[in-house]
Amino acid sequence: PTAPTKSSAVLGFESIPGSLTDAVAIPAGYSAYVLAPWGTPLNSKAAAWKDDGSNTADDQANSVGMHHDGMHFFPLNDAGDDGLLCINHEYIDQDALHPTGPTYDTDGKRSVIDEVRKEINAHGVSVVRIKLVSGMWQVVENDSYNRRFTGASVMDIAGPLAYSSYLETRYSPDGSQARGTLNNCGNGYTPWGTYLTCEENWPEYFVNKGERTEEQSRTGIPSTDTRYGWNHLAGHDEERLDEFARFDMTPTGTSAANDYRNEANGHGYIVEIDPYNPNSRAVKRTALGRFRHEGCVFGKLEEGKPLTFYSGHDSRFEYLYKFVSDAVWDAADANSSNRLSMGDKYMNAGTLYVAKFSEDGVGEWLPLTLDGMTTDGGTLADSFSSLEEIILNTAGAADLVGATPMDRPEWAAVDPFTGTVYLTLTNNSRRTESTNPANPRLNNNFGHIIRWDEGDAATEFSWDIFVFGSPDDGDAETNLSGLTDLNQFASPDGLAFDARGILWVQTDNGASEVGEETNDQMLAIVPSTMLDADGNQQVVGADNQTQLKRFFVGPNGCEVTGFAITPDYTTVFANIQHPDNWPYSDKADEATPAGVSVRPRAATVIIRKDDGGAVGV
Ligand code: FEO
Ligand code: CA
Ligand code: CA
Ligand code: CA
Repeated sequence: PTAPTKSSAVLGFESIPGSLTDAVAIPAGYSAYVLAPWGTPLNSKAAAWKDDGSNTADDQANSVGMHHDGMHFFPLNDAGDDGLLCINHEYIDQDALHPTGPTYDTDGKRSVIDEVRKEINAHGVSVVRIKLVSGMWQVVENDSYNRRFTGASVMDIAGPLAYSSYLETRYSPDGSQARGTLNNCGNGYTPWGTYLTCEENWPEYFVNKGERTEEQSRTGIPSTDTRYGWNHLAGHDEERLDEFARFDMTPTGTSAANDYRNEANGHGYIVEIDPYNPNSRAVKRTALGRFRHEGCVFGKLEEGKPLTFYSGHDSRFEYLYKFVSDAVWDAADANSSNRLSMGDKYMNAGTLYVAKFSEDGVGEWLPLTLDGMTTDGGTLADSFSSLEEIILNTAGAADLVGATPMDRPEWAAVDPFTGTVYLTLTNNSRRTESTNPANPRLNNNFGHIIRWDEGDAATEFSWDIFVFGSPDDGDAETNLSGLTDLNQFASPDGLAFDARGILWVQTDNGASEVGEETNDQMLAIVPSTMLDADGNQQVVGADNQTQLKRFFVGPNGCEVTGFAITPDYTTVFANIQHPDNWPYSDKADEATPAGVSVRPRAATVIIRKDDGGAVGV
């Protein structure tokens, strides 16, 4: 029998009302609780999390990081009650991280080494062994799989930039390694069981106070200071020069290898992690482009066909990219025990494309290769001398070939039944003129979700807009999808399909018109079942909007981001990032520790049905 082309899932919960309470909201018949909040010790080198901010940098290096974001569950058994949760830690709240916030000297420079180390260690990724014991998920402390990747962890460079002169640094004179992963926002995973973490707003961690290169200006490397001032410490302690000076790329020497001018070239990538091998290094897959990667998702697998990965560049008027592997898919590779070698096979060589959304639902993938055509009739070879240079300035190359400027491409997700790819375009308040068909609203405060199907040729696709965010009381030109108080949303961001074909949509800082009525949230819908009389997939409209159901609402001030699910569908994991007060505010019966300031903690939330059944249906 041929595989079904649509999901059989039917959402089995009632859409919940919006919520403005300082707790999570879920449908009747479900329970939710916190797992692995920031500061949870992963091994015995870390002291227990302290509510006064006094944990050390070493504690932080051995504990769960801050500001949870993308996430994936990797099972360790068939029952799905034992596994590894990989969690991104996007950025930090310095006020919550330290007893009284960050310390500065009289010149306004960061001055406490352990503080900055703690901040670097609060970034990155956690791999956390979790087990379901008596119906409750628990972190397994001291488990040998537990590990942290931080803003200082040594990582390998793979693909076209490996061993490139552009990657030569004091630390890695041959250009084979870089230190740390930063601003890990969305995520992905691979068919062979590895985790993909995506480096998003990494440029602000660096500075070049000299003359910035064209690439640095286009990429957004600052010219005055870094986001958290980590570079300031270089002048405070000569011995620590390299540890903190590396964030200041201002050229000082005569050759690149003698200063830090190449340091940021080791950032801006999709990073592959093998959670099942605690001794493996993370690998930066440079072939997938260098930009502010939000997420990374692979297209529907077909034996004997190339693999495809999609990744959005989250900034206003930036682009959508896809990578097509040279190697063709061999299903046996899904079971390889040498997982990172599969990454070498499928993610190091291929072609990077950028999307052009034309009128009438037709799209074109434009190759970012030396012979890729530019809008002035030439090729990228007129402006770049190598593929390495194109990748380093991926967005600059995409400018030249005529890519479509989008309303902040965030996560993508692939329907397991149809192969249709969905992408959140979170918002773009600065689109004050010149719309295009794929981004049709001026002052797009509410965002939308676009989707496409690949064509017969690798360079063709067809697309439509699946749903527009809106307040329920928006006029007909605003509320284009007919949303109600039970599913109004703005700023779609996190996006994931589960294997049953349910699409989960998460929101980040929705516009005030929606935010006055509900905190950020997670909704669900089953797109492949929404067919018209001719069997074509429908978009969300007034006549079928009820199929989009609100499943979860987060506490005050947070965004809801990162989705994972167990293989038996009985547990859903979602992350709460940057809450105002939570989870303390969610525990009114627990006394606040005397004499300490309560600080918010990003955390994973476990969502399960009270009867232990599959979530969502
Ligand atoms: Fe880190 Fe684009 O959200
Ligand atoms: Ca975020
Ligand atoms: Ca995001
Ligand atoms: Ca966002």
